[in-house]
Amino acid sequence: MKIAVTGATGKLGAQVVEKLKERVDQANIIALARTPKKASGLEVEVRAFDYNNVDQMTTSLEGVDKLLLISGSELGQRLQQHANIITAAKHAGVKYVAYTSLLNADESSSSLAPEHLGTEKTLAESGIPFTVLRDGWYTENYTDSLNDTIALGTLYGSSGDGKIASATREDYAEAAAIVLTTKGHEGKTYELAGDEFFTMQDYAMEISKHTGKTVPYVDLPESEYAKILEKAGVPAPISGFLAGTHTSTAKGDLFNDTHELSKILGRPTTPLSKTIANVLA
Ligand SMILES: NC(=O)c1ccc[n+]([C@@H]2O[C@H](COP(=O)([O-])OP(=O)(O)OC[C@H]3O[C@@H](n4cnc5c(N)ncnc54)[C@H](OP(=O)(O)O)[C@@H]3O)[C@@H](O)[C@H]2O)c1
Repeated sequence: MKIAVTGATGKLGAQVVEKLKERVDQANIIALARTPKKASGLEVEVRAFDYNNVDQMTTSLEGVDKLLLISGSELGQRLQQHANIITAAKHAGVKYVAYTSLLNADESSSSLAPEHLGTEKTLAESGIPFTVLRDGWYTENYTDSLNDTIALGTLYGSSGDGKIASATREDYAEAAAIVLTTKGHEGKTYELAGDEFFTMQDYAMEISKHTGKTVPYVDLPESEYAKILEKAGVPAPISGFLAGTHTSTAKGDLFNDTHELSKILGRPTTPLSKTIANVLA
């Protein structure tokens, strides 16, 4: 049983490969990478995989039984790229595909939702047995800039009191590895989110608790938050996109309380406090 993972050079994909190694013989794991050299440290078979090259992807999927399609990172091109991957999987006779979609994809106001929903539809129409893993926000989306926030002394955002049920990449990676290596997931769509939720105000309070220094949360209109990001050096299109994700957060798009992620993991998801502690350690 050969299991292949797209985006294996990415942060999530690399962790999925590691989690798979704990569950199956590593000779049965294939890392799919646009630049194979980048994946050499994974110590599994690596095959070339450019989402814009259907012929190359079809060849690279030969002999693959199960595929984890990790959503790509080139916004606006992903619907076509994901469709290309699904076409290649069909041509190569892949028997099962799991796709990392977006939490609440069918209800979300996020600008990211249409590409994910479109991919879910393409996958359903492909005839290949599949599972949709609707991943929530990574806690690292916040904690990657934790040290900058502490240095600045203020947490800015435009998320209002939107609830954020995030989990770590490791949580999502482990869940994907479990779904790929256990039975009973075909045809299912899982809403994967953290067991606990926090608001940006809660996040600021948690930072204050860990550092012993008061870090207030300042909630701004979306356009003003985008300006702050721009002033900090974030390019205009990205700052607009990031501020937009905060508005989506305020609308509740990052919240889900079905606990499907911890049910798959068989353990609680990683709490925010632990992720903060790990960054500060
Ligand atoms: N849930 C969340 O909070 C959240 C946050 C950010 C992103 N995401 C989504 O989740 C995915 C995985 O997250 P991540 O943190 O692992 O992202 P990441 O580190 O940016 O990894 C993206 C991966 O996609 C590959 N890729 C992109 N375009 C490609 C193409 N045209 N052909 C072949 N490979 C391509 C990249 O390859 P290279 O190494 O060659 O660039 C990389 O391996 C992202 O791509 C995005 O769709 C989710």
